[in-house]
Amino acid sequence: MADQATPTGVTSLDDESWDPFELFDRAMGSDTCRDPYPEFAELRRAAPVQKVDLVKLMGEGAKALGDNLPTVYAAHSYAAVSEVLRDGKRFSSGAYKDSIGLVMGPTILVMDEPEHGRYRSLIQTAFRSKALQKWEHDLVRPIVHGYVDAFAGRGSADLVRELTFPFPVYVIAGLLGLPKEDLPRFHRWAVGLISVAFDFANGLAATKKLADYLTPIIEDRRAHPKDDIISVLTHAELEGTRLDNEHVLGFLRLLLPAGAETTYRSSSNLLFGLLTHPEQLEAVRRDRSLIPRAMEEGLRWEAPLTGIGRLCTQDTEVCGVKIPKGAMVQVVLGAANHDEARWEEPTKFDIFRPPKQHMAFAFGPHRCLGMDLARMETEVVLNAVLDRLPNVRLDPAAEDVHITGRIFRAPRRLPVVFG
Ligand code: HEM
Repeated sequence: MADQATPTGVTSLDDESWDPFELFDRAMGSDTCRDPYPEFAELRRAAPVQKVDLVKLMGEGAKALGDNLPTVYAAHSYAAVSEVLRDGKRFSSGAYKDSIGLVMGPTILVMDEPEHGRYRSLIQTAFRSKALQKWEHDLVRPIVHGYVDAFAGRGSADLVRELTFPFPVYVIAGLLGLPKEDLPRFHRWAVGLISVAFDFANGLAATKKLADYLTPIIEDRRAHPKDDIISVLTHAELEGTRLDNEHVLGFLRLLLPAGAETTYRSSSNLLFGLLTHPEQLEAVRRDRSLIPRAMEEGLRWEAPLTGIGRLCTQDTEVCGVKIPKGAMVQVVLGAANHDEARWEEPTKFDIFRPPKQHMAFAFGPHRCLGMDLARMETEVVLNAVLDRLPNVRLDPAAEDVHITGRIFRAPRRLPVVFG
């Protein structure tokens, strides 16, 4: 599979002539939506929840599906999005079983209660603040500063390619306790997996490669536990039994898109927001206690993932709109985060706005498990940029630097100069 040309022209995940960023950039090729927010606003103003006209959206493709055309609704207001996400009984995560579930195997992302809660609790403690302090010191800071070391003396850099894109995969690899010499290969497979929405063939190929690579390591940790996530998973007990390899693998595969891609995007979006608003960047540089507010505003303003999905399990109603059993529901986090009923001038990036809960990490039973880790990683990155790149600013010679993507959003590059 991996050796056949894929739609994006990437021929093999093991071809060392591709560096991981090029592999990813190529897979992302056609996602050129620059600003989905005017459309989100129009839809949200029309109705908090509405039926999606698939024929209008997909044209002939939809007609070809005939009676198999799914019924799809979309939730755009903050109130509608929180109501759907809060209620895992009416709105099931089983929606993912036939898409991302095929690539990842059994994961908490596709489970409903009570199964979901049981599996989630097995890993939850590993992501609590005590573990985070140790990881910040032993893992995240050395990785981030290692990347900054490579360009700090140069006076210019592309912060996406040289920092925000690579570092989160290496953090995940560190959490898993993978040997250093395997990291370049692991990075390429991770990129194959996280590009699955744009290149399904490479996503499947990466799934297989990761399974072949990780299975012996899982077996080793069963016999000789270490201080890493694989050991936590292999020794966690669920009703007296231990997780089998498939469930451990499913969880490990989930960590790549859930933990690496989102963090790359959110830290890039925050840096973009600050670099394009130099007075706010300066305020944060002078007063680091503003970092948490800046991070939350970055996540609200440009959520790295603008939408997630649920399956409606019963005839119901949300914000006065009827949704039939069996309908798919698009939960548009990006639209909820720009709801003018909740935020004044929502399209404006303003780290000084009063703090309020946003939807970038979702809500309810599936609320992001890694959000404290993501926050810690972003804080380390921002401090490293502010401490080590004096007077950092967007390269005035660079044209048209912008955030792009309809569902997954980030800038493709962040050329900066400093010193
Ligand atoms: C800023 C960065 C991040 C954002 C914006 C983000 C966003 C999200 C969202 C929206 C969900 C809900 C998905 C759904 O229900 O359909 C989610 C779930 C999840 N996230 Fe994150 N995430 C981030 C970072 C991380 C990190 C660093 C990790 C771990 C290494 C992580 C692990 C997970 C896991 C395991 C789930 C599944 C939780 C469940 O189903 O119960 N995430 N994340």
